[in-house]
Amino acid sequence: MASSTALISDTEAWKDLKGHVEDIKKTHLRDLMTDANRCQSMMMEFDGLLLDYSRQRATVETVDKLLNLAKAAQLTEKISRMFNGEHINSTENRSVLHVALRAPKDAVIKADGKNVVPEVWNVLDKIKEFSEKIRSGSWVGATGKPLKDVIAIGIGGSFLGPLFVHTALQTDPEALESAKGRQLRFLANIDPVDVARNINGLNPETTLVVVVSKTFTTAETMLNARTLREWITAALGASAVAKHMVAVSTNLALVEKFGIDPNNAFAFWDWVGGRYSVCSAVGVLPLSLQYGFSVVEKFLKGASSIDQHFQSTPIEKNIPVLLGLLSVWNVSFLGYPARAILPYSQALEKFAPHIQQVSMESNGKGVSIDGLPLPFETGEIDFGEPGTNGQHSFYQLIHQGRVIPCDFIGIVKSQQPVYLKGEVVSNHDELMSNFFAQPDALAYGKTPEQLQKENVSENLIPHKTFSGNRPSLSLLLPELTAYNVGQLLAIYEHRVAVQGFVWGINSFDQWGVELGKVLATHVRKQLHSSRTQGTTLEGFNYSTTTLLKRYLETSSEPQM
Ligand code: F6P
Repeated sequence: MASSTALISDTEAWKDLKGHVEDIKKTHLRDLMTDANRCQSMMMEFDGLLLDYSRQRATVETVDKLLNLAKAAQLTEKISRMFNGEHINSTENRSVLHVALRAPKDAVIKADGKNVVPEVWNVLDKIKEFSEKIRSGSWVGATGKPLKDVIAIGIGGSFLGPLFVHTALQTDPEALESAKGRQLRFLANIDPVDVARNINGLNPETTLVVVVSKTFTTAETMLNARTLREWITAALGASAVAKHMVAVSTNLALVEKFGIDPNNAFAFWDWVGGRYSVCSAVGVLPLSLQYGFSVVEKFLKGASSIDQHFQSTPIEKNIPVLLGLLSVWNVSFLGYPARAILPYSQALEKFAPHIQQVSMESNGKGVSIDGLPLPFETGEIDFGEPGTNGQHSFYQLIHQGRVIPCDFIGIVKSQQPVYLKGEVVSNHDELMSNFFAQPDALAYGKTPEQLQKENVSENLIPHKTFSGNRPSLSLLLPELTAYNVGQLLAIYEHRVAVQGFVWGINSFDQWGVELGKVLATHVRKQLHSSRTQGTTLEGFNYSTTTLLKRYLETSSEPQM
């Protein structure tokens, strides 16, 4: 077993896997896929979901060795420590309890000795009440009109998760029905173009602005909040803020200082990481305003179902654990630096951008949780697009260029089925034909011999050859209701945590985002003094000075 300060790469389990890589290099998925027992052991079912990881470059022995690695990393203990509210985010001295955000009312989950579930439900009940008032029109704006449109201002974790869930629910029949006549928009970028796009076509009289920021200090969010406050007050007067602006934050003092009535603030807690906050008021408030609390509650229940599975299922049958271990295998042993997230569902078009933050902000680290430099890479480069769009874009590289492990996510029942008379299959079957075909194309490839048999001309054979042996996994969801969206979210959140636990890093801090913010502060000060007092540029290198000079001399920004 690894002592708390030892690196996982020093353990026998890690070294054993290193040695095992040579065995796997001798295999081809074409052959591995002929072993029905192996494939059967690589199918996992839970609560309507089916996971098939038989197209990973792994044998039954590999999985056993990965489970040994999990034991060496004390994975089960680390999962328990998370659920027990221990301060596993050691560099910020915080618990990591996003699981408490979706726990049933009678659950007991403690942070610093105190059950946090009642506080969670107080806020959920407050959201339920408030969103019902807005949706029913019993809460009206400054001119007496109901507020039918919502702009949620926030960035990073205060944006990507809610956007993903909103996009996923938009065409779900139940959610669609309950959102009739309402709009939910997201303002994230400090680019004023994003403001223009968000307010385009909206009337301040009928718009509610939700400012979402864990810290309530994020530069982009606060300037956007001030910009929309100005938009509201210019049209409706300063007193309209009380009716048209609410907030979600852990920093209620700053919310009040900004001018938002504390009664219209929805709290969350420092034991919720930004990128893990979609199940807090960060996501639940805007989504409840759009779809009603009862739909959003189903989303929380789906996530909670996976939480319970993750907490209590033995590691060899535990979906997030297996997924996390396989990702570690791909990154640290097979040396694949990227992962493609490929949902065959347009409704999941914002899933990859959300997981990019969840995964890359969590696991893109260079030192162990104890501060030791890591002799191996952690995290992977996540990217993705819905199929079939991706097929007509970057799949060329995935099939014949670099090897990129792929997550194929498919849905059995479409949210919006279409069947045209006379067509061979329904539109959803057409989509799913691709979902089922792509993993085999990647795994099996196509040999020169096969091409010769097809009489392909000699000069084209190298170009039409597919090496195959490219790993993927397939996750099949029964449908894409709010409940399933919650399941999907929690699977990926926990998978990322598993990876971090095994690598021995802190997946819950994000110091790497700070330096750029500090340097932007210097630039901001310089822009201000250059524009207001004509101060010459100072303290920047040749490159930045040249670029800044060009920007200041030629930009048409309003002078202060
Ligand atoms: O960019 C870093 C970050 O701190 C993210 O981790 C976070 O999700 C985002 O900024 C937004 O932070 P906040 O919710 O405090 O505005």
